[in-house]
Amino acid sequence: MPSPDSPVPDRRRPLVVAIDGPAASGKSSTAKWVARELGLRHVDSGSLYRAATAAALRTGVSPSNWTEASVLKAAVGIRLEPGETTFHPYLGDEDLEEELRGKDVTANVSLVAKMPKVRAWVNERVREAAEGHAVVVDGRDMGTAVFPKARVKIFLIADPWERARRRLVQRLQRAPEDEEIAAEVEALVQRDLKDEAQTQQAADAILLDTTFLTQEEQVERIVAMARQALKGPPES
Ligand code: C5P
Repeated sequence: MPSPDSPVPDRRRPLVVAIDGPAASGKSSTAKWVARELGLRHVDSGSLYRAATAAALRTGVSPSNWTEASVLKAAVGIRLEPGETTFHPYLGDEDLEEELRGKDVTANVSLVAKMPKVRAWVNERVREAAEGHAVVVDGRDMGTAVFPKARVKIFLIADPWERARRRLVQRLQRAPEDEEIAAEVEALVQRDLKDEAQTQQAADAILLDTTFLTQEEQVERIVAMARQALKGPPES
């Protein structure tokens, strides 16, 4: 029997599908889709880092003066509300969803994500939301720090040009020009660098390069892995 600290998947617990990867690798949209296909809960850990950042921005204190204590104090009223396809971070009665995707939050979220106590706060919220349910969780360290025993671990990667192109198509709702893609690549590479320490590929994660896959194809592959995990290991 695995010891409590062992990273060996624990088959007595509900299924956890952990999807990690760099910025704009399609983690959240893929995770949501996989969860819908399988009827599982979806929890996006990045939305909690973004919510803590939005709450800290609202205090009016300049990010250069933020401390772990000030960010945690600002984040005290944040909770996750279950929605139709995923959980939404609320601050009091306010749904933060729109604010989370704004430029100011994106520019400052990596700073907040480096704070160990904020990471512990996020991890606790994610585990609470997942507790007792089969889930798809996505982020940077779901398969390592948060759910080391997850039965399915995926690390999604894609070529930076393709990641930038997909992000722009989503944002602009049209085919982007090459110059626009090049500028977005630069922004993505900068964020990858800022998030390097937080982004961890589990030793037992399956690396999925989606550069030449459609979203439907990548969803199909992950759904197949999750179904296999639910059935148990193949007979030997
Ligand atoms: O995935 P998303 O881009 O929404 O995440 C926002 C930020 O939250 C990332 O740039 C990273 O700094 C942080 N993050 C993290 N660990 C996670 C999820 C997100 O450090 N598990």
